[in-house]
Amino acid sequence: MRDIFYFLALALMAVLVACDGEEPEPEVNTRPQNVTEYNKVTEGLKDYYAGNEYFAIGTAIEPASLDDPAGVALLKRHFASITAENVMKWSTLQPSEGVFNFGPADRLVDFAGANGMLVFGHTLCWHNQVPDWVFRDGAVPASKELVLQRLETHIITVMTHFKGRIYGWDVVNEAIDDGSGTYKNTIWYQICGADYIYKAFETARAADPDAKLFYNDYSATNATKREKIYNLLVDLKGRGLVDGMGLQGHWNIDAPSDDLITAALNRYKEAGVELRISELDVSIYPSNSDPESEYTSDIALKQAIAYGRFFRIFRTFKDDISGITIWGIADNHTWLDNFPVQGRKNYPLLFDVNLVPKQAYFTVINF
Ligand code: XIL
Repeated sequence: MRDIFYFLALALMAVLVACDGEEPEPEVNTRPQNVTEYNKVTEGLKDYYAGNEYFAIGTAIEPASLDDPAGVALLKRHFASITAENVMKWSTLQPSEGVFNFGPADRLVDFAGANGMLVFGHTLCWHNQVPDWVFRDGAVPASKELVLQRLETHIITVMTHFKGRIYGWDVVNEAIDDGSGTYKNTIWYQICGADYIYKAFETARAADPDAKLFYNDYSATNATKREKIYNLLVDLKGRGLVDGMGLQGHWNIDAPSDDLITAALNRYKEAGVELRISELDVSIYPSNSDPESEYTSDIALKQAIAYGRFFRIFRTFKDDISGITIWGIADNHTWLDNFPVQGRKNYPLLFDVNLVPKQAYFTVINF
């Protein structure tokens, strides 16, 4: 009884203290906590992270994504920007020399324009999804001069075609080595050395001075790789050739750690460039050897915690991160079903295979 009395007295004092001075903050968080509540509102991810306050949230799409009305509704509700998942890569845009195929990419860019979405150009120079002809001269390997000239032609033609409609381009994708080397030993590097990187950025800068130019890479939180990327950014920035760093963000439910993400974002910020998370997804498999699994409630919880952790860090960098792109709309379409293990179903996104928001979605929007 005495305990209850003391408790009530303390509670009364707390109320008096709270009422003294400023009005208590009103309850502001009216965001949906579950699917029933979600179905009653119209806001989406992009609204909770709106414009100047946080960052533009985007997703990667294919032309086929626009053929599914339910997918399009989800896309419009949640995302403020798009990246072409594949159709702005060299193999689609210039499958044979001098033959440009802009149709599929134009469809995405027109859709974005009609719906007030930003477009990120991905990607002008990469060692994957680039045709063999680029590196051949008839029966023999092409010379460095020929390869660089083709790179220049490709970049000028593509950037001129899309001029004024692209916020920024991933000019060079994945040029830094994962091991002890500085540069990744790609076909570009084998033929041109690091000159192809400078050629790509110089050409891009001249082709569209208004477009932001990004360097983009994976494992960008790895401490060793981070320092090599940082050096490249400082060098390019010193030449006026780069504006931003895209951390791909192909992460998983266990990694990377808060410390590594924070250290990487701080380091790239020191290079004086704007930051993007350009291809975020959160695999349910920490290891390549993990067997295929159902999407259990235990995994759903772990994934929600991981997504919550990542976005909490992103929010602390809201003045430095201009955008976050999630690499796909929903778990019914993800490249991770076939990478790094062919045919192992993955569930790395914020919406499930039926386009219903997952626990991770509610964690990301409730802050
Ligand atoms: C992936 C696409 O999602 C897949 O559809 C395609 O088969 C292979 O490429 N890093 C990148 C992206 O920069 O372009 C890749 O996209 C994923 C890894």
